[in-house]
Amino acid sequence: MRTVKLLNPARRKSLGLPCDILGYALGGTLPRPATPHAGTYDLVGERMTHTESNPPLFETALPYKLRARGKVRDIYEIDERHLLVITTDRLSAFDHVLPTPIPDRGRVLVGLSHFWMKKLQSVVRNHLTEKSQLQKLLAELPEQDQQALNGRAELVRKADVFPVECIVRGYLAGSGWAEYQKQSTICGQPLPSGLKRSQKLSEPIFTPSTKATSGHDENISFEKMIDILGTETSGKLRDISLKLYTEGADFAAGQGILIADTKFEFGVVDTEIVIVDEVLTPDSSRFWPTEKYEIGRDQESFDKQIVRNYLTEIGWNREPPVPALPDDIATKTRDAYLTVYKKLTGMNLPPACKDVGSVSVTRPR
Ligand SMILES: Nc1ncnc2c1ncn2[C@@H]1O[C@H](COP(=O)(O)OP(=O)(O)O)[C@@H](O)[C@H]1O
Ligand SMILES: [Mg+2]
Repeated sequence: MRTVKLLNPARRKSLGLPCDILGYALGGTLPRPATPHAGTYDLVGERMTHTESNPPLFETALPYKLRARGKVRDIYEIDERHLLVITTDRLSAFDHVLPTPIPDRGRVLVGLSHFWMKKLQSVVRNHLTEKSQLQKLLAELPEQDQQALNGRAELVRKADVFPVECIVRGYLAGSGWAEYQKQSTICGQPLPSGLKRSQKLSEPIFTPSTKATSGHDENISFEKMIDILGTETSGKLRDISLKLYTEGADFAAGQGILIADTKFEFGVVDTEIVIVDEVLTPDSSRFWPTEKYEIGRDQESFDKQIVRNYLTEIGWNREPPVPALPDDIATKTRDAYLTVYKKLTGMNLPPACKDVGSVSVTRPR
């Protein structure tokens, strides 16, 4: 028997937390959960039962102080020096979070970030703490909650995050391509003329941006970055970013994935620069399948293409309400994430829940 919930309702009530947020977002119209394989899903009261794959997690309500809910992550303050970051299965497309979570997406993002943080640890320190500290913290939670959070919870050192996103581009795509077409530059940096869409640049370039308080991030020049962070820090962040990208992209290319561009975030912990957030995931980067790469046209992305195509096909105007995804689209999207994970790490994503595969329907308490 298997039921997924995130907080024991009695416990949640005693903590004064809302009782209507569980592993699946309640409130408003309930989107139909995706069925990753042939399994069936049932929502019984606040609970969800499932078969075959790790159940999706849309939102959490844990007994810690909620610091922020990003598009993908729920972030809790554990103490002055630590944050608990939960990467959910929320997926955004065209700047909107979809009501349909993609099972295992959060675990893939976390698994890949850790894979890269370890692989690239000689380049930069990262924000992760010892696994035992996380286990100790999660041991306070009921067993089922621990399983629901397994592989997606990270206990990290709280950093003073630099207000600049460190973007590295190895190929001409996205906003870089748009600017290049107009004026043969990317973020003000001149490039040779005659380059084609999706073409590999002769060497990767560093194009920082600021996080806009609303709307899209704004590309800035390196000089502007120096105004914000100073010459020394800006130079360090640029050098670290280029190194991380170059090493990561070289490795990924050998595994059948082109990393066209990526975004890193850094912060300071105990006076040292550390990398925070996520590293070289399909969310922070453009991943293209090597075998489909063709210069001169837009490339299919490894992960969100299926969803973007679907939303375009149904003629969604990119304004709320955001449409739910049919099961087959969610399934294909999940498969794409699992494929990326396997290609890069050489392994299947480990199962997160002990008894995945069994079927159950449980009455709410
Ligand atoms: N170690 C850390 N210290 C402080 N903030 C962090 C740390 N790691 C990640 N963050 C922040 O947590 C947030 C991650 O949540 P996410 O859902 O990805 O947000 P967004 O919607 O802005 O992408 C980002 O704002 C990131 O800067
Ligand atoms: Mg993010």
